[in-house]
Amino acid sequence: MEAKFQFLFLLFLFDVSFAQMPGFVSLDCGGQESFTDDIGLEWVPDTQVRFGEAINLSVANETRKQYRTLRHFPADSRKYCYSLNVTSRTRYLLRATFLYGNFDNNNVYPKFDISLGATHWTTIVISDANTIKVREIIFLASTPTVSVCLSNATTGQPFISTLELRQFNGSIYYTEFEDQFYLSVSARINFGADSEAPVRYPDDPFDRIWESDSVRKANYLVDVAAGTEKVSTKMPIDVNRDERPPQKVMQTAVVGRNGSLTYRLNLDGFPGFGWAFTYFAEIEDLGPTDTRKFRLVLPGMPEISKAVVNIEENAQGKYRLYEPGFTNITFPFVLSFRFGKTSDSVLGPLLNAMEINKYLEKSDGSLDGAVVASVISKLSSSDLDEGGDPCMPVPWSWLQCNSDPQPRIVKILLSKKNLTGNIPTDVAKLNSLVELWLDGNSFVGPIPDFTGCVNLKILHLENNQLTGELPSSLVNLPSLRELYVQNNMLSGTVPSGRLKKDLTLVYSGNINLHEGGKKNHIYIILGSVIGALVLLLATVVSCYFLQRRRRKSREQADVLEESKPAQKFASSKGDAPKETAHCFGVKEIEEATRGFERKIGSGGFGVVYYGKLNDGKEIAVKVLTSNSFQGKREFTNEVTLLSRIHHRNLVQFLGYCQEVDRSMLVYEYMHNGTLKEHLYAPLTRGKTISWIKRLQIAEDAARGIEYLHTGCIPAIIHRDLKSSNILLDRHMRAKVSDFGLSKLAVDGASHVSSIVRGTVGYLDPEYYISQQLTDKSDVYSFGVILLELISGQEAISNVNFGANCRNIVQWAKLHIESGNIRGIIDPSLRFEYDIQSMWKIAEKALMCAQPHGHLRPSMSEVLKEIQDSILIEREPLAREGNSDDISGNSVHSMNIGPLDLRANENYVSFDESIARPLAR
Ligand SMILES: *[C@@H]1O[C@H](CO)[C@@H](O)[C@H](O)[C@H]1NC(C)=O
Ligand SMILES: *[C@@H]1O[C@H](CO)[C@@H](O)[C@H](O)[C@H]1NC(C)=O
Ligand SMILES: *[C@@H]1O[C@H](CO)[C@@H](O)[C@H](O)[C@H]1NC(C)=O
Ligand SMILES: *[C@@H]1O[C@H](CO)[C@@H](O)[C@H](O)[C@H]1NC(C)=O
Ligand SMILES: *[C@@H]1O[C@H](CO)[C@@H](O)[C@H](O)[C@H]1NC(C)=O
Ligand SMILES: *[C@@H]1O[C@H](CO)[C@@H](O)[C@H](O)[C@H]1NC(C)=O
Ligand SMILES: *[C@@H]1O[C@H](CO)[C@@H](O)[C@H](O)[C@H]1NC(C)=O
Repeated sequence: MEAKFQFLFLLFLFDVSFAQMPGFVSLDCGGQESFTDDIGLEWVPDTQVRFGEAINLSVANETRKQYRTLRHFPADSRKYCYSLNVTSRTRYLLRATFLYGNFDNNNVYPKFDISLGATHWTTIVISDANTIKVREIIFLASTPTVSVCLSNATTGQPFISTLELRQFNGSIYYTEFEDQFYLSVSARINFGADSEAPVRYPDDPFDRIWESDSVRKANYLVDVAAGTEKVSTKMPIDVNRDERPPQKVMQTAVVGRNGSLTYRLNLDGFPGFGWAFTYFAEIEDLGPTDTRKFRLVLPGMPEISKAVVNIEENAQGKYRLYEPGFTNITFPFVLSFRFGKTSDSVLGPLLNAMEINKYLEKSDGSLDGAVVASVISKLSSSDLDEGGDPCMPVPWSWLQCNSDPQPRIVKILLSKKNLTGNIPTDVAKLNSLVELWLDGNSFVGPIPDFTGCVNLKILHLENNQLTGELPSSLVNLPSLRELYVQNNMLSGTVPSGRLKKDLTLVYSGNINLHEGGKKNHIYIILGSVIGALVLLLATVVSCYFLQRRRRKSREQADVLEESKPAQKFASSKGDAPKETAHCFGVKEIEEATRGFERKIGSGGFGVVYYGKLNDGKEIAVKVLTSNSFQGKREFTNEVTLLSRIHHRNLVQFLGYCQEVDRSMLVYEYMHNGTLKEHLYAPLTRGKTISWIKRLQIAEDAARGIEYLHTGCIPAIIHRDLKSSNILLDRHMRAKVSDFGLSKLAVDGASHVSSIVRGTVGYLDPEYYISQQLTDKSDVYSFGVILLELISGQEAISNVNFGANCRNIVQWAKLHIESGNIRGIIDPSLRFEYDIQSMWKIAEKALMCAQPHGHLRPSMSEVLKEIQDSILIEREPLAREGNSDDISGNSVHSMNIGPLDLRANENYVSFDESIARPLAR
């Protein structure tokens, strides 16, 4: 009784905790039955495969059932394929594993190739009988099935132990190259792991295998720096969403107590272009004065070391994930890297996890793929489709291809295959075909129109039941040299009068087929003799051929849809892939904004509306003007980049929404609006922002911009900094908005120059003239903002700056250089400031607004100056100098008229055709 109860209880447990993820397929190659393993994965035997041989294996220490069997294949020139169902436009992880176990008692280890579709994936080289070889690839499915094929055994026999397909949900593996490249996994490491066991399902819902850094392998994670210590936490880690590393991986890390973390590892598949991301979460308890800032150092890549990581700041808190990385970086085969603390950091670097994948260029496959798929769908034999691409990397056994980059089929050998029905007319669409052998089947109906096959030299149609006439277009094919149609049921006349001299035509054995015009005995006799010989030869060839293949059923399969290949190709273009960024539904946005009821701003990129999501979160929805982003693809790229930028002084990007005719970006809502509103409408609001508050706003904004310039690779140039792009939250802390909407800056000395963008008054004159965009253009704009903070004046005014002066920079420069700083200070500050801090900012602002970029300071220098000013302002003893002359200061008048603060943006946008770019 009790035992029975326990049994039921177990069953129940089994049901609940082992519900496998949808989109998982786990093939136990060579297995006999389905089973569920210890971690809850459901394995099924690979009985779909018609060839190869299943083998039972016994490897010491390996108890997992899926590794007690394998399937091996003959070491011939064929390829042997597994076909897996997938959902188009979805990302997957595909894992193939190989445990040799000396199954064939051979004294050479196997070496063979595996391919994914038409693409050569990798060469499997077994070097140890008892170690499992694992290969993983991440791909975006573009067709309803994918094929994994084994081929080209150089030594031993090809074999496979498991094939695992894991469907992804989100999109951290989205790359802008994913239509042309797969990601082949080279390293996925869990640092500070508490055991040698990898972390995988169910800890990782996508069953990625996070290898423990304590597994010691040759040339893998060696050269570890002294002072490297493991740390871990039990606290939950906020890993957000998507396929971020699982919490268990993020809860452990290594810390470089001596200031450095170093590692060296060999990277499978490299050198080449790769995708590499690091994952950080602050999991140590920091003291009040502790800081942790560090840089990545890669030999020979000084650019990389510019970015500084400050996990807590970047992730906006402890126990939160920060994931900087590179979507396209060149790595060598032997990768040495170091994380080193910055000179002003108290603590050494910390690293939780890392992933490195290599870009693997997809092969387009044969140009004839669609046509041949349509042809075989109409043939009655089920084993003609041998999987994968008909030509690449190894052709199917019954055809031959040429060696073009996108190969064409040149020869089809389907003699005596028991094929029935009509000859599929599509076969004539194989324009590169040179030889076609369809003899010895049971084809009925007419001979199709081969006019398109201009290269066809040899055509064998004999020994079928074909009817109708012998088309004259056929015998007149320009390249045709041999035509065999004997022993069919053809009728009519042989178009002998027009026969070319060099064509061998054999047509005996067709009762109703008569020679037309004058009889040509030579041809008939010659025809019969050659026909007999060729028939003999053909029989030999096809017998040889038959030995290598099993015969299949001959049911008529004409029912297969003609539309299938067409659909396949349509679906591979169509809908956009899933991006990293969250995609809001149109409905959701309409509800949140109550039908775009409340407009809260407008600028160069579009109009902004207030919204509130169902969960109460307030949002700002920017509806982009249609000309802001030309292409859907460009939009997708930009949005993906946006979603990777995180900093507490940058307005948080929440997602996007795309309709046919408009695109929207969704941001966190900033309660206190723009800095511009606060500066120029103080009288209408009845209060002004104090100088210390203004300095804090400047500090916040400078931090945000500094991060764009130095914390992102490639660096991001804002291009349109202005007081209306600095937003204020509930607590009047500032965040920079609209970043990343202009094109990304290209690394190093180069620049982006497609179009001059910016706002009059803030636009760097050097950039305007030369179109050479650098981060110093943002510094110029920031200088203008500092002058606005000092003066409460707009950047451009026709009235406030006196005659002949419209521009705040010229105006401020005149005053400051003549020592009259009070002439520009905002009167609404009412002398509640320290004149020294004011001088510091004013001088720095002018430095920022130097006409030449190389004379301007960097954002980091500006930030430091602002912080110094804040210290001065907080130091009461230093506050003296503001009691001096009250007269002669408010020389300028305030514009207190009703201002339309947002619609009046003077936005400039020059087309390339007007202003010729100097580069690119
Ligand atoms: C492998 O083992 C299973 C039972 O464990 C058995 O049914 C099967 O016949 C064996 N296969 C081979 C090829 O020995
Ligand atoms: C594996 O088996 C060998 C002996 O065959 C033994 O020495 C070794 O400790 C085992 N390893 C593990 C991890 O069980
Ligand atoms: C794959 O899909 C096809 C057609 O939808 C279906 O007939 C077949 O059973 C599926 N195969 C597997 C292994 O699910
Ligand atoms: C098979 O492998 C050998 C050596 O590994 C290589 O030289 C050859 O090009 C490969 N053949 C194909 C068809 O990939
Ligand atoms: C997949 O996505 C859905 C919706 O975004 C989410 O609810 C679900 O938890 C995700 N699954 C995993 C394993 O992350
Ligand atoms: C990566 O960048 C290089 C040049 O910097 C480029 O040639 C390559 O196409 C890019 N993408 C991939 C996937 O390699
Ligand atoms: C061809 O089909 C016929 C009738 O279905 C069958 O009897 C014969 O065995 C088949 N031949 C081969 C070689 O498959």
